[in-house]
Amino acid sequence: MNEKAESLQKLFKEKMDEIKLTSELEGLRVEFLGKKGHIADLMSELRSIPNDQKKEAGQRINTIKQFIETSIQQKLEELKKLEEQRLIDSAEVYDETFPCDTNTGSYSPITLVQREVEDIFLNMGFSIEDYSEVTDDYNCFEALNIPKHHPARDMQDTYYLSNGQLLKTHTSAAQNTILRKYAADLEKGLPLRAVFPSRCFRNEKIDACHENTFFQMEGMMVDKDISISNLIYFMKTMLSEVFQKDVTVRLRPGFFPFVEPGFELDIQCLICGGEGCASCKDSGWLELCPCGMIHPNVLTAGGVDPEKYSGFAFGLGLTRLAMMKYGIKDIRVFNSCNLKSLSQFTNSSFTVPEEKKED
Ligand code: PHE
Repeated sequence: MNEKAESLQKLFKEKMDEIKLTSELEGLRVEFLGKKGHIADLMSELRSIPNDQKKEAGQRINTIKQFIETSIQQKLEELKKLEEQRLIDSAEVYDETFPCDTNTGSYSPITLVQREVEDIFLNMGFSIEDYSEVTDDYNCFEALNIPKHHPARDMQDTYYLSNGQLLKTHTSAAQNTILRKYAADLEKGLPLRAVFPSRCFRNEKIDACHENTFFQMEGMMVDKDISISNLIYFMKTMLSEVFQKDVTVRLRPGFFPFVEPGFELDIQCLICGGEGCASCKDSGWLELCPCGMIHPNVLTAGGVDPEKYSGFAFGLGLTRLAMMKYGIKDIRVFNSCNLKSLSQFTNSSFTVPEEKKED
């Protein structure tokens, strides 16, 4: 029995050394610890050995079993870390020195991220809406429960046109129009599920993290009995798809006059896995998406009865998402017209037709 136990441990160590992927570990676990595995075989052999040796042999088998269990657990953690690191290393990373042929057109990193997120929402039954970049005070503020002179307006100063219209400060400016568009469908029993991406503008001082022109994607879902759990589910699914791995999210209270309750949705930092690093300023979390349950006043303004329906809304920062996804540290790159920086992310570049090429 002792010899068998010895050689089993040896066999396990040899096989363990060959394992390179977490997916291979399960096979090894079954082979050794499964119902018909090597350990179970040894256990059944216990019956046939003399009584006075049973105790010692049983203990020996248990020790090997524990050794195998802890080794597999340790290896799993080691491999997970390695796989995560590999994923980070293989991500397309922004490279300022990338060689560039300016005759070859390419998609902006924002367009790529926008399309990817649109696809994910299309698959979840959402429609994609378009909305103008120029709007008015009513849509951008009043209809969103932000009356004139409300302090919340201070955070969203913008550019006004001479005719009194303005450049929208957030995609929430389309909420009223979208609610009106679908209010009648709700009465027919059809839920409202829409995302609307767009460029937004704010009168901001520009630095590496702030721009006066940036991209957001608003999302809304309204139906009977929509709750915060629906919101969390959709955000988690969408972010896991974008980053191609399970993300951990958390909600913190956040104030926006058009949602109640309102939240800031954070994701656990993908670079350090939550332990704290420079990217997440040592907090382990990254702020990604303000959201909340649509305020009854907003539903009413959009022609939807808040007694019958409820819904959630979120404002995903597409520019921020693109920065995280491609490791772009300076937001000014996006509006820089620097083709060298902007053309390197595209998978499906197109070539400018001969006749349009400059001499
Ligand atoms: N529109 C808000 C902003 O840009 C974000 C937001 C959208 C918050 C939807 C809650 C719900 O700051």
